[in-house]
Amino acid sequence: MQISEDIFNKLKDKKSVKILAIESSCDETSVAVVENGRNVLSNVIASQIDIHTRFGGVVPEIASRNHITAISNVTRQALKDANCTLDDIDAIAVTYGAGLLGALLVGISFAKGLAYMSHKPLIAVSHIKGHIAANYVSHIDLKPPFVCLLVSGGHTAILDVTDYTHTKLLGTTIDDAVGEAFDKVARVIGLGYPGGPKIDKMAKLGKNNIEFRHKYTLENSLNFSFSGIKTAVINYVHKLEQKGEKLPVEDIATSFQEVVTDELAGKAIKATKSLKRKTLVIAGGVGANSRLQEKLSKMCESEGIKLYFPSLKLCTDNGAMIGSYAYYQLLDDKQIADLDLTAKSVVPLN
Ligand code: KG4
Ligand code: ZN
Repeated sequence: MQISEDIFNKLKDKKSVKILAIESSCDETSVAVVENGRNVLSNVIASQIDIHTRFGGVVPEIASRNHITAISNVTRQALKDANCTLDDIDAIAVTYGAGLLGALLVGISFAKGLAYMSHKPLIAVSHIKGHIAANYVSHIDLKPPFVCLLVSGGHTAILDVTDYTHTKLLGTTIDDAVGEAFDKVARVIGLGYPGGPKIDKMAKLGKNNIEFRHKYTLENSLNFSFSGIKTAVINYVHKLEQKGEKLPVEDIATSFQEVVTDELAGKAIKATKSLKRKTLVIAGGVGANSRLQEKLSKMCESEGIKLYFPSLKLCTDNGAMIGSYAYYQLLDDKQIADLDLTAKSVVPLN
């Protein structure tokens, strides 16, 4: 539904547009207040990591229940931290997908309630676009166009971001998302959940001395495949376990991380160069990986490419990234959501 010209013109002409943004797609309940797409007035994140750790991964039903418990207080705190009341807010934004349906519905229902009772526009935001926008709040100078390497628990893609709201998909994974592979490998070698940060830490202690490079045929494309690498690690671990040998956990972590980050960094640079873009942006939880950041920093420096990644807190799921994207989305397509908005487990990468 299009926002009425009247309200749109008022918003457009305002010096300060404040959006209250809600994110509940997975295991973080987060609410933020973001001004003009860039200025984060608050960003409260209630993480459920401790709750899901004992199950070795996110349990969707438990995630939904905990979002319900947390969302009112997190919203109250976000308004308080921003020194605002609901009256100061111009629009309500919410992640509508991709993610866990039950978890998303908690945020969506709450956002609808707020928008309805306060007569404010409701903006439905893609979680994927939000991850890209995390960079706008981390880097005030960043503007499209740029190439984006999107690496999260659910997605792996290379995108050409031509302007704030338009992207072109250049490559994606043909099987597992990279975060999924990190989490699976961590579980197999006994590091537990969430796997990415634990492998990152463990990899600093090991050697790159095990060959997990999978012989796949994606060398000439910008697509990825991680399931072969993941299976190579699982097979290696099973073989050692059958022989009753001790697992070289540090070396497995290092060797796995090296292959994966080579793949990601190599293709991200290739895409940036082939489009003659001068800027490469990293988005999503795996963007927090220290080895990926280290490799890309070196490669970008030698290629004359400017590299951006969000601050650690903004790499993983948060409301601020949703509030940032919502602002550009509203200005660009003037679309607001109806109260029949529903959750989508999958959204387009484009
Ligand atoms: O973007 P995100 O918070 O949620 C999704 O949208 O999926 O990403 C979560 C993923 C998890 O798979 C987690 O293991 C991974 O990001 N991750 C990392 C690191 N920190 C988080 N992977 C590698 N190294 C890290 N330091
Ligand atoms: Zn995410």
